[in-house]
Amino acid sequence: MGWIDKIEQIKKDRNAVILAHYYTMPEVQDIADCLGDSLALSQFAQKTNADVIVFAGVYFMAETAKILNPTKKVYIPDLESGCSLSDSCPADEFILFKQKYPNHKVISYINCSAAVKTLSDIICTSSNALKIVQSFPADEKLIFAPDRNLGAYINHISGRNMVLWNGNCHVHNALKAENIIELKTKYKDALLIAHPECQQIILQFADYIGSTTQLLNFAKNSNRNQFIVATETGILHQMQKQSPDKEFFIASTDAFCNCNDCEYMKLNTLEKIYDCLAFGKNEILLSEEIMCKAKYPILKMLELSK
Ligand code: 13P
Ligand code: SF4
Repeated sequence: MGWIDKIEQIKKDRNAVILAHYYTMPEVQDIADCLGDSLALSQFAQKTNADVIVFAGVYFMAETAKILNPTKKVYIPDLESGCSLSDSCPADEFILFKQKYPNHKVISYINCSAAVKTLSDIICTSSNALKIVQSFPADEKLIFAPDRNLGAYINHISGRNMVLWNGNCHVHNALKAENIIELKTKYKDALLIAHPECQQIILQFADYIGSTTQLLNFAKNSNRNQFIVATETGILHQMQKQSPDKEFFIASTDAFCNCNDCEYMKLNTLEKIYDCLAFGKNEILLSEEIMCKAKYPILKMLELSK
């Protein structure tokens, strides 16, 4: 029996579901019960009746699933699946940062640790960041963490002046404007679609900016046929599947290398997913206190995202 059949069988035995992000490898995406962006995956995790959740994504995503549905067993295929953006905001440093800005409310991007979530008033994802920011009165003093690029972009389109934590994602932050210009010169009719974790110098050229799901929907519904895609490479699998007649060119760090892979997302394999289900490997365990405190700002976001 191959891994796919073995996983299907054990999923039934354990009443389990597999959640996967678009940046995981194609074979992982293809066996998922829910494939989505951070918001959709959180919403699915909150509502599922399955006894077991295997989260093929990165650690903060699996942690969020556990917080939202604490009676379920939640597993992550590889405990090393971290996130450079989340790691760029250690909770102890964030406490000191907050102290410098009294009377500020804190909006944290979901790519942060449960500990940072406990220090936040509300969470957002790339698909709802503008809406969450705009839910605060215009004169409210705000801190946005941890992604500086997303925060700067939301400041730009909302006219707000949020204080920004200086964090970034090593994959998106490394994409180069020079490479975009080269691709634009080569593929003159192609539209540039970009994830808001990219730097402002790239976002300013973009024809469309959105979360992974929003980029997929834009490409599918557009009457144009060529797209330069400024995000992680894994998304191309669904893009090509959803729009087989369209052409996608992945933006990169330079002209010779398509190396904007998130190595953390790529740690998810079929074998490791099976091991979670068969042997209970890599269960997410959090203290009651952290779960209780971190849940509140996530629930506030989910309430505003209905
Ligand atoms: P999305 O919520 O847009 O899927 O983004 C998640 C992520 O980690 C981007 O790097
Ligand atoms: Fe984190 Fe960047 Fe990987 Fe997304 S692509 S999970 S932000 S390291």
